[in-house]
Amino acid sequence: MNILAVESSCDETAVAIVRDGRQVLCDCIASQVDLHKIYGGVVPEIASRKHMEAIYALADQALAQTGLTRKELDAVAVTYAPGLIGAVLVGVNFAKAAALALGKPLIPVHHIRGHIAANYLAYPELEPPFLCLVVSGGHTMIVDVKDYTKMEILGTTLDDAAGECFDKVARVLGMPYPGGAALDRQSQTGDPRKYVLPRSKPGENPYNMSFSGLKTAALNLIHHAQQVGEELDVPSLCASFSEAVADTLVPRVTLALQQTGSRKVAVAGGVAANSRIRRGILEAAEGCGAQVFMPPLSLCGDNGAMIGAQAYYEFLAGNVADMSLNAYATKSILGESLS
Ligand code: KG4
Ligand code: ZN
Repeated sequence: MNILAVESSCDETAVAIVRDGRQVLCDCIASQVDLHKIYGGVVPEIASRKHMEAIYALADQALAQTGLTRKELDAVAVTYAPGLIGAVLVGVNFAKAAALALGKPLIPVHHIRGHIAANYLAYPELEPPFLCLVVSGGHTMIVDVKDYTKMEILGTTLDDAAGECFDKVARVLGMPYPGGAALDRQSQTGDPRKYVLPRSKPGENPYNMSFSGLKTAALNLIHHAQQVGEELDVPSLCASFSEAVADTLVPRVTLALQQTGSRKVAVAGGVAANSRIRRGILEAAEGCGAQVFMPPLSLCGDNGAMIGAQAYYEFLAGNVADMSLNAYATKSILGESLS
């Protein structure tokens, strides 16, 4: 089954064609990052307009790259939630028009389910059940992936997502948007014990997390140094910050492996590219005797292929939409209902 998959929830317009959920025939992407860089973050209206300009040509490019004709497409899939609403609407509207014109099913895909499915592309042998640490720009959670379309959230951040904090700290340190990867690079030569930053344990659920205290502490430290004219050891601050984020995520993943008895753990989302977090998860998995699944960096960030992968399993589960499909800025990963 050849699925044309569309992703436009943030600042990347992406169109891929994926066969049977596992084989990427093409993965085309038009990044807007350079455009938003000058504003220090994504400007939603600009993002929507750029998606509008890029999406049709990108779909044509996808067909040309694979040599497939439109008739050889079996379904159209699209990220319908969550994301910048104007941006998601562009993809949904395009996908609806394409499905209607082709006379093929329309498959709505939750963006975070897509991130998890990136693992199916990287590891053909991977099948649920497994645990997944989801860390993206807008989400941070530990998910028990019971089946391709059945999931349970074990714990989640109660405030900021890890990616937001990486970007905010990087921005205040003068790194260009999105700063997570740049901060990661800087941290390589730093001392992770040089700066003392807090780790919080919010509420009763041991899997829940909080990052706003850590973010505020890092920002205060930077502002204070600037005010008193103290020179910051930027690589060490980046390393200490990454260490604190990893210290929040990794022990919870270890606990989840121990308490659920799961022997498989995967990572997903843009922040899953972080070298300190990857190292921590590798060690945690090794300590628990679990197999670890980490998509290559190219599949951690937003892409169309991950949407095509998840779409196949949504289709098999009967999760198709009609022409009344809408777009949603927020929606639970569990979101069975389309309303
Ligand atoms: O999953 P994603 O591409 O988009 C969302 O769905 O949000 O994640 C983007 C986030 C940004 O915050 C970006 O700075 C972060 O992933 N990121 C990283 C790294 N690479 C990307 N954060 C930390 N370390 C990295 N190496
Ligand atoms: Zn994403």
